[in-house]
Amino acid sequence: MKILITGGAGFIGYNFCKYLLTKTNHKVYSIDNVNDYYSQKLKIARLKDLKKHKNFKFYKFDLCNKKKLEKVFKINFNIVYHFAAQAGVRYSLINPRSYISSNILAFFNLIELIKKNKIKKFFYASSSSVYGESKNFPLKENQIISPKNIYGLTKKNNEEIVELFFKGSGTKSVGLRFFTVYGAWGRPDMLIYKYLKSIFFQRTKFYLNNYGNHTRDFTYIDDVTEILHKLLNAKITESNVVVNICSNNPIKITRILKFINKYLKKKPKIFKRSFQKADVKKTHGSNFKIKKIIKKNRFAEVDISLIKTVKWYEKNWKLFR
Ligand SMILES: NC(=O)c1ccc[n+]([C@@H]2O[C@H](COP(=O)([O-])OP(=O)(O)OC[C@H]3O[C@@H](n4cnc5c(N)ncnc54)[C@H](O)[C@@H]3O)[C@@H](O)[C@H]2O)c1
Repeated sequence: MKILITGGAGFIGYNFCKYLLTKTNHKVYSIDNVNDYYSQKLKIARLKDLKKHKNFKFYKFDLCNKKKLEKVFKINFNIVYHFAAQAGVRYSLINPRSYISSNILAFFNLIELIKKNKIKKFFYASSSSVYGESKNFPLKENQIISPKNIYGLTKKNNEEIVELFFKGSGTKSVGLRFFTVYGAWGRPDMLIYKYLKSIFFQRTKFYLNNYGNHTRDFTYIDDVTEILHKLLNAKITESNVVVNICSNNPIKITRILKFINKYLKKKPKIFKRSFQKADVKKTHGSNFKIKKIIKKNRFAEVDISLIKTVKWYEKNWKLFR
């Protein structure tokens, strides 16, 4: 199969490309603008690793560039996975425009071409952020959603556009509401990596938001890539569906930090601060629906996966400079 995966220089896109290239014979194509939202050194290292595989082809451009995108679509892709986006919750207070261009305009360029080229399956990244501050735990896909920041709003908008846009077409779409994904090659703007950076680079300050009273449904990247792969051949009955991608295991973030301290026998200086307005206090999703679709029952043990993540960071910390 010919599979297009956008955002291959990013955390989830890279890991999924790598999974397919090492475990299958599919031809993998990726587009990414390699932007500077975080360390480009890390993104380039991910791409360098993918380019070792003969079944990988990479295109560097912005998905807002429709002409370039049209050219790439001359390849008859069988399936598209879309992970390129402006990610991050807090940055949406600083630079909301980048969310509109990457998550709305670029998204629309892509779905227009998917429809035009009659691609049968479209998987795209949504986010747990669509739920906002809801307290109906575990969060279920069919509840009313109310995002509390521009980032979450762009993801809600993606889900709504897709539902109307593909209606009556032959394209099945699956919105993937990811919950706090972590693991090897992770994102430097996320908690675990910010914490590790403050340990490995002593001059980096670590701010603990909401005095540490946040709880997140941490989801390991190896579970995510396995789910994404199983979805490739899964029987999807509805033409448009959204699913939580989460471990259904909410953990207080201070527990994660204490675990890292104990493992590394090191502790950075922590600057505690109040609740930040784009954040939500807790995430905890139900994974009943995705487990049923792909018949997966076991999720990674958080302590084991955290050790693997920290070990990976110990070897690769220089990429986070
Ligand atoms: N990692 C998580 O925990 C998490 C949680 C919820 C949702 N998501 C969503 O999953 C997707 C992947 O997340 P990630 O953690 O891999 O993020 P990431 O930032 O590591 O990867 C996104 C990639 O997209 C590229 N990109 C951004 N805008 C682009 C554009 N206009 N044209 C071309 N390339 C562009 C970036 O350069 C980057 O490499 C995103 O849509 C994100 O919003 C991630």
